Amino acid sequence: MTHQIAIESVLREKRLFEPDPAFARRANVPGQAAYRRLRKEAETDYQRYWARLAKEHVDWFTPWKKVLDWKPPFAKWFVGAKTNISYNCLDRHLEGPNAWRRNKAAIIWEGEPGDQRVLTFGDLHREVCKCANVLKGLGVKKGDRVAIYMPMVPELAVAMLACTRIGAVHSIIFGGFSADSIRDRVNDAKAKLVITADGGWRRGQIIPLKDTIDEALQGADSVKHVLVVQRTGQSILMKNGRDQWWHDQMKTASSDCPPAKLDAEHPLFILYTSGTTGKPKGILHTTGGYLVHTTVTAKYIFDLKEEDTYWCTADIGWVTGHSYVIYGILSNGVTSVMYEGAPNHPDVDRFWEIVDKYNVTILYTAPTAIRTFMKWGDKHVRKHSLASLRLLGTVGEPINPEAWIWYHRTLGKKRCPIVDTWWQTETGGILITPLPGCVTTTPGSATLPFPGIFADILDEQGKPVGTNQGGYLVITRPWPGMLRGIYGDRKRYKEQYWSKYKGIYLTGDGARKDKNGYFWIMGRVDDVMNVAGHRLSTMEIESALVSHPEVVEAAVVGRPDEIKGTAIVGFVTLEQGNEPSDALRQTLRQHVAKEIGAIARPDEIRFTESLPKTRSGKIMRRLLRDIAAGRGSVGDTTTLEDYSILAKLREAEEA
Ligand code: PRX
Repeated sequence: MTHQIAIESVLREKRLFEPDPAFARRANVPGQAAYRRLRKEAETDYQRYWARLAKEHVDWFTPWKKVLDWKPPFAKWFVGAKTNISYNCLDRHLEGPNAWRRNKAAIIWEGEPGDQRVLTFGDLHREVCKCANVLKGLGVKKGDRVAIYMPMVPELAVAMLACTRIGAVHSIIFGGFSADSIRDRVNDAKAKLVITADGGWRRGQIIPLKDTIDEALQGADSVKHVLVVQRTGQSILMKNGRDQWWHDQMKTASSDCPPAKLDAEHPLFILYTSGTTGKPKGILHTTGGYLVHTTVTAKYIFDLKEEDTYWCTADIGWVTGHSYVIYGILSNGVTSVMYEGAPNHPDVDRFWEIVDKYNVTILYTAPTAIRTFMKWGDKHVRKHSLASLRLLGTVGEPINPEAWIWYHRTLGKKRCPIVDTWWQTETGGILITPLPGCVTTTPGSATLPFPGIFADILDEQGKPVGTNQGGYLVITRPWPGMLRGIYGDRKRYKEQYWSKYKGIYLTGDGARKDKNGYFWIMGRVDDVMNVAGHRLSTMEIESALVSHPEVVEAAVVGRPDEIKGTAIVGFVTLEQGNEPSDALRQTLRQHVAKEIGAIARPDEIRFTESLPKTRSGKIMRRLLRDIAAGRGSVGDTTTLEDYSILAKLREAEEA
C-alpha cells in the first residue's frame, strides 16, 4: 500500500455527551466503574476474559480444551468445543429457566405492502427444524454450501438458521446483486443448493429474484436444486427436477431435527465482500467464536433486555444483518424487527410508523440513512411519537457530527445514548464502540475498542503514531469473531490482512486517536470505497466498465457526497471511432449495474481522451479524485476532457 495518510485538518469536535446516570444504573454494564473493571479483566488476560464470557453467554455441548490456538495469521478459538448456533438462538429459549420464551416474539416482520407476521421462538424453532429436514432431503450435508438470494422475509431467517442447524455453510448474496455477480459467488463457493423467492417488494415494485437466479445459474454447475419461496406471486419459470417450491417441501417435512453438534471451528458462513482487486473475496466465519462475539457485543453494546424490541434496519445480505438482525440478537432471546422494503414507501415516514407501531426500543441504522432522513425533513419525524426509543446505534461509515446531532436530537429527543459502532465483514462483530451508560460520547468518534479488543494506529514502519496523527488502523490481538480466511484463497488472506505488519490485522482503514484515546475513523486507505455504507472496489467497477465493447480504459474514484458519503465517478476512454454522448453515459452506467448490481452504478461518467498517468504509467488517482471532487477541474465536463496537461503539471509539482 503506497498511500500516504494525510493528517486531516478538520475542525476538532468538542461536544461531549456524558452517560446519563439513570441509564447507567440499569445498563448491562452498569456505569464507568463496571466498565473499567471489564477493561481491566480483559487487559489482564484476554483469553480468560473471553472464556468467561463464552461460558456465561453461550451454551456448549462439549467444553473447549484450549481457549485460543494462535499461529499467526491462523486462529482457532474454543478448541475442541462443540456447539450449535441454531440451538443457541432457538432451543435454549424453549427449555429450562427460559422456557416461557417459547411464546415470545422472536421476529416481528413487516412486509413492504403492509402485511405482518410474528414468529415466536417456538414458531421459528419449528420452521427451522422443518427447513433443516427439507435441506437434508435435497441432499445438503454438513459442510455443503448453500447460496441464499432472498428478500427480507422471515423465510430468510429460517433458511440461515436451518443451515446452521445441520452444519451447512450459508453464503447470502444481497438481493441487489446482478446475475453475473451471483454466478461468480455461487461458483466460487461451489454451492449445492440455492434458496430464493419468486420476488421481493421494493418501492411498490416487484424485484424479480427468481428470474435473476435463472440467468445466474446458466454456467453454475454445482447447483443441484433451487428452493423457491413464494412471496410476490407473479408467474415464474420452475425448472423441472431442479426447482422446488418451499411451501410444497415444508408441508410434508418433519419438525423433528436435533441440532448437529458442531466443532467450534466448523465453518458457519461465507460472505463475499469487495477487496482491492476486481474479484470479491469470500470472507469465512466459523461457529463458536463468532457466536460468542456477536452474542456478547449485542448484549453489552445494545444493552439488550428481555423486554426490548430491537430493530436493525440493515439487509440480512450484509454482515450487519447476519450478526445483528439474526445471530447476536436471537441468541440473547430478544425480539428482532425485520422490515422488507424501502424507507420511503408508501411515504418517507415509514420507519417512524414502524417504530411507533411495534414500540421499538433500540434502533440500529446507517449514517447514509440518517442523512437521507435529514434531507426529507424533520416534519415527517415529528408526526410520530418515538417515545419507545431508548438507544440508537449507527454503523457502516463515519458519521458526520451534523448527522450525529440530528440523530441525537430529532430522533432520540436527547434521551437516547448513541453507539457509533466500527467493524467490518471480516471482524464478524463490533470492535470499536462506546458502551451506553459507560463511555462519554462525542459526535463522529466510535470512541474505544470493546473490552477484549486491542486496536492501534501505526505508521508505515509499524510504530504507533502520536496523538491526532493519522495512520493505519490495526487490531493487534486475535478476537473470537475474526474471519478465519478467504474461502479457497489462503494466499490472499495472508497478503491482504497480515503482510504489512507481522501478526497484526490490517483493517484497511485510516484513523487517528485523540488525546483521550478515542478513535476517529478517517475512511479507507486502499482502493475500496464506502458508498452509502456498502463496500465497493474501484477495480471491480473498472473491470465492469472495461468489459463494455466501446470502452478502452477506465478509472474509478470516489467523490464526497452529502447523502451517500461517497459517490462513484468513472473516467472512461473510448475505443476509436466512438463519440461521447449522454446516451452512452447512461448505457455505461446501466452496464455496470448489470454486471455488478445497482449499488455499483456510477453516479457520474466522464469521458477523457486519455487517463492521466505518471511517466511510469500509473494512473494518477489522486488527481482524478481532485477532479471528481471539483478541485482543479478543467472546464467543460460534458464532452471530452483531456487531463494529460494537468497530469504533466501535477507531476512536475510533485517531483
Ligand atoms: O471503512 C469502515 C467502514 O465500513 C468498512 C467495513 O465495511 P463492511 O465490511 O461492508 O461492513 C460494514 C458494516 C460493519 C470499514 O472498513 N465503517 C464501518 N463502520 C464504521 C465505518 N467507518 C466509520 N465508522 C463506523 N462506525
